[in-house]
Amino acid sequence: MLPLPDSFPQRSGALTENAATAVLDALEAEGRLPAALFAETMPGCGGQRVLPDGFLANIYRRVHELGGICVADEVQTGLGRMGDYWWSFETQDLLPDVVTMGKPVGNGHPLAAVVTSEEVAARFDSGMEYFNTFGGNPVSCAAGLAVLDIIEDEGLRQNALKVGGRMKRGLQTLAEKYDFLADVRGRGLFLGVEIVEDREKFRPDRQRSHEIVEAMLEYGVMLSLDGPGHNVLKIKPPMVVDLADADEFLGKLDRVLARTA
Ligand SMILES: Cc1ncc(COP(=O)(O)O)c(C=O)c1O
Repeated sequence: MLPLPDSFPQRSGALTENAATAVLDALEAEGRLPAALFAETMPGCGGQRVLPDGFLANIYRRVHELGGICVADEVQTGLGRMGDYWWSFETQDLLPDVVTMGKPVGNGHPLAAVVTSEEVAARFDSGMEYFNTFGGNPVSCAAGLAVLDIIEDEGLRQNALKVGGRMKRGLQTLAEKYDFLADVRGRGLFLGVEIVEDREKFRPDRQRSHEIVEAMLEYGVMLSLDGPGHNVLKIKPPMVVDLADADEFLGKLDRVLARTA
């Protein structure tokens, strides 16, 4: 496990990529070389974290030096959700050896996919037998291809950029109004809002976060919580939401926040 930087150094101390690469250095010193690094470029369950520029690039470089490969998990962040990019690894200018995708790639149809370089694929094709009950199902493949076409043909990536931008600006305005909204972060339709008890130590406010999620449900809006403190509102709506949906969401959230303030 590699440590991740926190949005609030007041809470957990400043952390740079050196702290993460130190873990790899320690493994090397013990003679335990990594086979692979698995990482989301914007950790979702970690609380919609936006990593500093260059953070993962340094780690990728170190893993490669030690002979490992780098796997980008795009299950939550991929398929145009970033708005300006198709994949979150592009936001950090990374070149993964393997990209994994799941859930939205089938838009409800159970499907996951792996994309890799010819070099890695060739190593896999070494005579070893690989078997998977559901692998290569033609119906699932058709569903996956249709999803890719629809994202492109209906401009859903551009929609994520436009609607996500409006949502983020609206959330930033709400953060000026309610001091327990400590951080609004993310990109496109992958946004997180951190709820804290105070602005000195930025202690996570799990209870208030839970109340906000429950109250939003009464208005018909499903949110969830992420992050180690269970205090980051996860805003990851379907890619087809429009500006009117964004405004409706922001209006409802404002009402709920006023209720819990
Ligand atoms: C980022 C991320 N990666 C991987 C998975 C698991 O995907 P799968 O069930 O296709 O293995 C999930 C969710 O379950 C996820 O959120």
